[in-house]
Amino acid sequence: MTTPPASKPGPAWIPASTRDWPTYFDRVAGGEPRSTLTQALDAFDAEPDSEVRFAIDLGCGEGRDTAELLRRGWRVLAIDGHPDGIRRLVSRDDLVHTDRLTMQMRLFEGMTELLPADLISASFSLPFCPPEHFDALWAAIRAAIKPGGRFAGQIFGDRDSWASIADRSHFTRSQTESLFDGLKLEHFDEEEREGSDASDNHKHWHMFHIVAQRPG
Ligand SMILES: C[S@@+](CC[C@H](N)C(=O)[O-])C[C@H]1O[C@@H](n2cnc3c(N)ncnc32)[C@H](O)[C@@H]1O
Repeated sequence: MTTPPASKPGPAWIPASTRDWPTYFDRVAGGEPRSTLTQALDAFDAEPDSEVRFAIDLGCGEGRDTAELLRRGWRVLAIDGHPDGIRRLVSRDDLVHTDRLTMQMRLFEGMTELLPADLISASFSLPFCPPEHFDALWAAIRAAIKPGGRFAGQIFGDRDSWASIADRSHFTRSQTESLFDGLKLEHFDEEEREGSDASDNHKHWHMFHIVAQRPG
């Protein structure tokens, strides 16, 4: 598996490097579910299902994707490393079927095993796994996807502004493609543009929006 460079300089002046998740959650509150998630759910909806499907929302944050999964009838394990994400998720007023929701406060660091799942959704969260832990996390994600199941989410690119931050995992396009060897790429969209982050700081965005299916 391809690993991004482990020793990168860490420019502390980049505001996003502070991992100030409560401020981030404030800024993005009320957002729509991520398009990679809804594309994956639409793909599942086009297939026959016999039982309630199970998803892991990895780096769930304040829960926009978990809320959508519950609304669409899924069982969900929502995982996040920050207590404020879990607190905001349980405080949402749009959660339905809460008997189908389990939450874990858990870091990516040391995450080497995940429950088998029909869908692993990691919306904008994987770049925050430190590079030295990424291979193990990615192996756990791949191993947990059931045959016929899917991954949905983002891999951040090597030309993204945050790629130079020491504890972030960013990949070139070909490294990203290698991560999905053996999976069917149903959606692979490379996005690169000037823009701003959730705190309105200028940012060069470079990322890959991906939905991939494990062969059945
Ligand atoms: C940019 S937010 C994305 C949240 C949500 N998935 C979304 O699409 O809005 C990244 C999330 O990853 C979580 N996160 C960051 N680093 C983490 C780590 N090392 N372990 C577990 N979760 C982490 C943060 O707490 C945050 O909720």
